[in-house]
Amino acid sequence: MPEQEKTEKTEQSKAEAPSDSKPKPASARPKRGRPSRARQNNKAKVSDSIPVNKEKPKEIALVEPSTSFIKNLKGNRPIIGLTAYDTILGAAVSAANVDFILVGDSLGTTLLGYDTTIPVTMDDMVRHTSAVRRANPQCLVVADLPFGEASLSFDRLLESCRRLMQEGGADAVKIEGGRDVADDIEKLVATGIPVLGHIGLLPQTVKAIGGYRKFGEIKEEAQSIYTDAITLEEAGCFAIIAEMLDEKVASELSKQILPPLIGIGSGDACDGQILVTTDLLGWSHGPVPKFVKSYANLNKVVSDALGKYVIDIRAGERSR
Ligand code: KIV
Repeated sequence: MPEQEKTEKTEQSKAEAPSDSKPKPASARPKRGRPSRARQNNKAKVSDSIPVNKEKPKEIALVEPSTSFIKNLKGNRPIIGLTAYDTILGAAVSAANVDFILVGDSLGTTLLGYDTTIPVTMDDMVRHTSAVRRANPQCLVVADLPFGEASLSFDRLLESCRRLMQEGGADAVKIEGGRDVADDIEKLVATGIPVLGHIGLLPQTVKAIGGYRKFGEIKEEAQSIYTDAITLEEAGCFAIIAEMLDEKVASELSKQILPPLIGIGSGDACDGQILVTTDLLGWSHGPVPKFVKSYANLNKVVSDALGKYVIDIRAGERSR
């Protein structure tokens, strides 16, 4: 899309953001130029003449590796995503019956010792995604698009997504950003690449925003986040991650958009939750965000076990 058109579109989105930071119901929103595919699908009314079986409760499969499964969980039960970066963690996370695994670029900070996710490359993402795929997970596997890959050209973006899916074995890709990346996401979705959106705190922009913080606490920012979410819905994202959003904004947003809103540090009222698995397991090298509830202390388990092993061997005891 030419640059001028892009700017006009962004301005149009801004103009259409509601005056109040609280999102309006879909029916009360101004009509946008591009009708939401998701909303179109949900528009059909069941005719009175068609009998509807009201008695049979909807049966939900435990887990299915499809984006439609994730979409249909909205309103039925909380959706759970966890990160995994290799075969052993992929197998453990899949065995816990999560709804999807994210091979996040958080592997840069959790595994590779970087301060941010920015140094993570396409080769890193392909290698770790294929390692998770080799665990044969039962659920959907989503791979993160690393820093810079969505910014150069659509051809480059398409090639990067192709690598994540064909070489890495991902079922879908995650892309950070809102209306700035929505046109490209729409084209990817049309090409057959399912996309998980990511709004609020975007860790790949941490150098530009100057650190990690909550988003949407002030009215203008809440409006901007609302516009991003609607634009991603209309671009065809099957779900949207909301990182570090103000809890009230996240709660309203999850009620007003059709794709599931999966929160991280955004309160309990989202349609689902995602966490960095190593954070909740207490298996980390750096600081863990305050909102993470700890379910284990693997740092201690591992250091105790290794310490005992070293003592045993030094004492002349065989390891077996
Ligand atoms: O890379 C990652 O793990 C993520 C989660 C924090 C959502 O983007």
